Amino acid sequence: MSTLHRGHIFHLTGRPSVQEAAEALVEIPDGALWVEDDGTIAWCGRYSERPERRGGEVQVVDHGDAFILPGFVDTHMHFPQVNSIDAYCGGQLLEWLDRCIFPAEARFADEAFALGAAKEFCNRLISAGTTTSLVFGSAFPVAQEALFDEYQRRGLRGVIGRGIQTVGPETAKPLITSEEDAIRLTEAEIERWHPATEEAARRALVCVAVVPRFSLSVTTKTLAALGELYDHYRSSGVYFTSHLSENNRPGDGEIAAVLESFKVESYLDTYDGYFLPGGKKGGHSLLGRRSIMAHCVHCSDAELARLAAAGTAVSHCPNSQLFLGSGTMPWLRTVASGVTIAAGSDVAGGDNWLIPYVLNTAFKVHISEPGAAGVALHPAVLLHMATVAGARALDLEDRIGNFDTGREADMVVIDPSRWEPLANSLEWGVLSDDPEKRTHGRLFTLLMACNEVAVAETYVRGRKLNDEKA
Ligand code: GUN
Ligand code: ZN
Repeated sequence: MSTLHRGHIFHLTGRPSVQEAAEALVEIPDGALWVEDDGTIAWCGRYSERPERRGGEVQVVDHGDAFILPGFVDTHMHFPQVNSIDAYCGGQLLEWLDRCIFPAEARFADEAFALGAAKEFCNRLISAGTTTSLVFGSAFPVAQEALFDEYQRRGLRGVIGRGIQTVGPETAKPLITSEEDAIRLTEAEIERWHPATEEAARRALVCVAVVPRFSLSVTTKTLAALGELYDHYRSSGVYFTSHLSENNRPGDGEIAAVLESFKVESYLDTYDGYFLPGGKKGGHSLLGRRSIMAHCVHCSDAELARLAAAGTAVSHCPNSQLFLGSGTMPWLRTVASGVTIAAGSDVAGGDNWLIPYVLNTAFKVHISEPGAAGVALHPAVLLHMATVAGARALDLEDRIGNFDTGREADMVVIDPSRWEPLANSLEWGVLSDDPEKRTHGRLFTLLMACNEVAVAETYVRGRKLNDEKA
């Protein structure tokens, strides 16, 4: 049976660049979204103009005054940090990893613990209206098995990969494997969970990524072997993701440590095959169309240009950048490079699961950038980061990201009556008399004032997901 969802629709039509987001913005106050039983969108428009249905039954789901948006895409988050939100370490990134995160992630060796955590992780995604996620997984196969199983059982869309570490400090020891095991376990995960044929890939909701934690967690030998592995699997649509240029504390921050330990001048080079001393080539590049780099707070213009040329996207995680004292990804300079910028919660460096809250922080940090770098992001640009850019970053733009005919119906229903501050702002806030400006004002309030309790329903490919909360 096909379904007609009735509600207040916002989405960005077509395939807009970030600069074209405002033009692509569509608001349909009494809108309807026609979803076929295979989960694809047959039609999106005004309820009063819905087409006549010939043959077959149609179920109408009336969401009342609630808003219907494309499901949020979170392009960077950590499964084994599900319980580590707001962990206090008294320092920045490297101290936080050492004192809070490595010990927390070591717990995932326990299968029963990991099973519970996988359920909780999926509950959190569904509660936050996140329909697609790119996930740093656990080092432990039992935990990975639990997460892949849970995604499939719940019907979530995602790209997941085990966290690879072959070197690190004492606290990371439980997460570190031999060089051989790092490759063997990654390959086994791809063979077990990544769709094996093009037909399977078209139907699949879950794919696999190759995920070295960051350059500091792997040796040059591992990077060379991962290059070989990725070269082999690239054509089957396997993803690559890692962290890049996040924390720049002078002397002993992440970036200084990478440049010092690899003896290179560009952090990006370590993922681009040039990881030997002096930036000499040592293996294949890990960049490309299905490659996503988290943070990129301190990239040079040359690094941003290389990311854009390779088709590698940036996952922008401003909550985490604030929490770990990493600074702010420069908005205008990053946009000017042409790279795709998608939103990431970076749970648990980011201390909130809700993508609109990531957008809220993005707005604040970019309006506060110094001098001419400061910019008030347009609400359509915020929506772009959360939907279209996320789909593009994950090479899923043919399938998700908006409500154009033929896309798969991943959507989130936001009901302001569940969160009074949002309802009040929408009801009583002053909006312009100009219809276009009204649309912009309403979307801005909806995204900025959203709270997880206002997320009423989450759908992937037309199917409503259950958050299974007690
Ligand atoms: N760099 C290496 N590992 C991590 C991590 O777990 N979180 C963040 N934010 N940065 C990292
Ligand atoms: Zn991260």
